Amino acid sequence: MEQHSREMKPESREPKAERQKPRSESPEPGFQIDHIGIAVKSLTAAKRIYENLGLAVSQEETVPQEKVRLVMVPVGESRLELLEATSDDSTIAKFIAKRGEGLHHICMRVPDLAAAIAKLKQDGVRLVSEDIKTGAGGHRYVFVHPQSTGGVLLELVDGGH
Ligand code: CO
Repeated sequence: MEQHSREMKPESREPKAERQKPRSESPEPGFQIDHIGIAVKSLTAAKRIYENLGLAVSQEETVPQEKVRLVMVPVGESRLELLEATSDDSTIAKFIAKRGEGLHHICMRVPDLAAAIAKLKQDGVRLVSEDIKTGAGGHRYVFVHPQSTGGVLLELVDGGH
């Protein structure tokens, strides 16, 4: 904040063009919210609201290694990921048993996943698994433990692969 801001007059505000910088001028290109993961009991029930809103819900897809079935709902530049457990020992089933349906994780795309993980590990950040996993569609990802993120399960996906 500028020092003389206390006596700022309305006409001394930054011009609009300054305040609304286009995305391409973001100081950290390559980072974005890739998707928001929501744990649900039933994909069929959960996706209905988005279909009714006129959003294009993807086909259902199963990820055996995570024991989930999911759909993606593109919303602007990001997506919602609705997750339903395919087995009682799925992390999604355990999450719902403990906390009910709801926000499960936030996924951030990073320009270089290996570099990001190296930096985090160096700083003692706790990862859910040590190694990069490969998910549906070949995307590479890692989960950061909520203990290191203020209570939010954070998925990082590689934007550089
Ligand atoms: Co996800």
